[in-house]
Amino acid sequence: MSTLHRVCILGGSGFVGHHIIAQLASHKHHVKVLTRNRERHRDLLVLPTVVVNNANVHDPITLKEEFAGYDVVINLVGVLNEEGQKDRSFQGAHVELARKVMEACRVNRIKRLLHMSALNADAGRGSSRYLRSKGEAENLLHTTKEINVTSFRPSVIFGPEDSFLNRFAGLLKITPKVVPFPLACPNSRFAPVYVEDVAKAFVNAIDNKAAYGKHYNLCGPKEYTLKELVQYTGELIGEKRMILGLSQSLSKLQAIIFSMVPGKPFTFDNYLSLLQDSICKEPFPQEFGFTPTALEAIAPYYLANKQSRARLDIARKAARRDA
Ligand SMILES: NC(=O)c1ccc[n+]([C@@H]2O[C@H](COP(=O)([O-])OP(=O)(O)OC[C@H]3O[C@@H](n4cnc5c(N)ncnc54)[C@H](OP(=O)(O)O)[C@@H]3O)[C@@H](O)[C@H]2O)c1
Repeated sequence: MSTLHRVCILGGSGFVGHHIIAQLASHKHHVKVLTRNRERHRDLLVLPTVVVNNANVHDPITLKEEFAGYDVVINLVGVLNEEGQKDRSFQGAHVELARKVMEACRVNRIKRLLHMSALNADAGRGSSRYLRSKGEAENLLHTTKEINVTSFRPSVIFGPEDSFLNRFAGLLKITPKVVPFPLACPNSRFAPVYVEDVAKAFVNAIDNKAAYGKHYNLCGPKEYTLKELVQYTGELIGEKRMILGLSQSLSKLQAIIFSMVPGKPFTFDNYLSLLQDSICKEPFPQEFGFTPTALEAIAPYYLANKQSRARLDIARKAARRDA
């Protein structure tokens, strides 16, 4: 029987976190989720081995107290669009938080830390501030000898609650049908990876000594241009549209305009991230013992048919794979 762990998760209330927590709970690990708003994430409490605590994870003392008695920490906190305040900036949410997590692990003698980064994260050469700050956090964490750190670097992640394909589906639905859909960076390439596969990689890595110290790029089995992904989304939701790929300068202009719209659907930093293809040179890491799921096997369930029945089917499939 595998070891049962006490796992403390930061950023666990989000899209990826929900899937990791469900898998940890299904393996009967005890999980504590730290969140800024417990009330909003009461759904996690239905899982029998999960507790959810309100906590300011940016406060070093709180972090040290919350980590006491835990033997594994998972940090999923990430911001795509920074907001002025310190803790919501790329530096605060990625680099400074990583430093505080590392210190709180050290004080509590926690030896296992799983860290969520992003494909193309690189402190020196990342094309955007998002990617450079993610790279800086990885560099910082992997210098420590006292903690066994594993970093995960996924391409874009898809799944029923993703904010990538679902966002394009929403935009295709609300924009006028008679004009082509304007798309920035249409030739940027992605290898979307399924959220359940990312979650499985995290859970499998906990006890896997081969994963200590590693940085894993996580990609799905196939590459697509952004234009192909938007076209595919349109087909699935019955909104076949002509896609107008924007030039570099128009893509930049769209980013500048959209960053002024409430909710900032596309910022200049997002545009800079898209200048690098989000694809892997190597296959999915063998250490995790499974092959990644194709987009076409999952996306139709949640895009074409948003009924609860389709969601149930996916949950059933996931349960069968775990069995
Ligand atoms: N989704 C993707 O396609 C993708 C691809 C590559 C890498 N990643 C990385 O994967 C991680 C998880 O992504 P996700 O899609 O699950 O994101 P998400 O749904 O936005 O969840 C992130 C969670 O982090 C917490 N958080 C956000 N900003 C914070 C801040 N300033 N301080 C403290 N907590 C904060 C939030 O928890 P509370 O509000 O409960 O506090 C939120 O639920 C991120 O690090 C992201 O960069 C995601």
